[in-house]
Amino acid sequence: MRKLVLILTVMAFAVVAIAAFVSAEEATHAYVGAKKCKTCHKAQFASWSETGHATAFDVLSDEEKTKEECVGCHITGKLADETVLEGVQCEACHGPGKDYKSPKIMSKKKWAADPDAHKKMAIEAGLVYPIEENCVKCHTKEGNANFKEFNFEEAKGKVHPVMAEEGK
Ligand code: HEC
Ligand code: HEC
Ligand code: HEC
Ligand code: HEC
Repeated sequence: MRKLVLILTVMAFAVVAIAAFVSAEEATHAYVGAKKCKTCHKAQFASWSETGHATAFDVLSDEEKTKEECVGCHITGKLADETVLEGVQCEACHGPGKDYKSPKIMSKKKWAADPDAHKKMAIEAGLVYPIEENCVKCHTKEGNANFKEFNFEEAKGKVHPVMAEEGK
């Protein structure tokens, strides 16, 4: 019985801790999770899956997973049904994707016909082309005891190396 109470308490703290991590972006656009991006971006997904970002939640202990001061940089956000998106998924860098992943915007045919217009539509619907600023909210000394020096130009090719290999 005491064990059950403890487990429930820990779970309650986890919910509170994660609920506290609500960014301004989430207020306007909703998250969908990396599996949704995978349906069209298989190469980036496979490549990202091999990186520490994909498993960034797993490096926390069960106790740390309940701590507000830890989860912020080790999760992406939450789905509408409260499911936690563990680790640093696509949307942690590219923005919550519910609106920009729409086939009206991210369609191969339509995008290819007018890339500039679709890029603009995607950005208006929340797509982020990440710059250093999008990384250093997590890659900062503040609150990050494991901080390593961060060099955007060196690091950006490692997030889904397939892009770097293609020279894109
Ligand atoms: C229905 C298929 C589909 C889904 C789902 C989808 N995308 Fe896309 N996305 C595309 C297509 C098609 C393009 C246009 C560029 C291309 O053809 O690769 C694109 C473009 C992009 C671009 C800009 C690429 C460029 O060359 O400017 C990014 C970044 C991106 N998607 C990220 C994501 C992320 C992150 C998700 C998940 C939240 C996602 N996409 C979901 C099909 C999709
Ligand atoms: C840690 C941050 C980060 C994560 C996580 C991430 N990306 Fe990216 N993505 C970037 C950066 C930075 C670039 C630009 C790379 C460059 O300029 O070399 C990029 C580029 C892209 C592009 C091409 C855009 C272009 O300009 O050609 C697509 C498509 C894309 N990402 C999709 C995804 C998908 C799908 C996922 C998840 C499976 C994902 N990304 C996860 C940071 C991220
Ligand atoms: C939501 C927080 C967050 C954001 C945003 C973020 N990172 Fe990270 N990053 C992490 C964490 C946490 C780790 C450690 C993962 C681990 O070792 O388990 C990490 C590790 C890395 C690593 C080491 C990769 C590996 O496989 O071990 C690189 C390179 C990196 N990040 C680059 C970037 C770049 C470039 C951006 C921006 C385009 C970015 N990160 C954005 C949290 C973030
Ligand atoms: C401000 C964002 C941030 C916060 C808050 C944060 N981390 Fe991290 N953590 C990172 C980043 C980024 C990395 C990757 C190292 C780097 O590049 O700075 C990392 C790396 C780690 C690693 C090493 C993973 C590996 O594979 O080597 C562990 C373990 C870790 N963090 C645990 C924690 C714990 C426990 C807490 C809470 C006390 C915490 N983190 C809070 C951003 C953060």
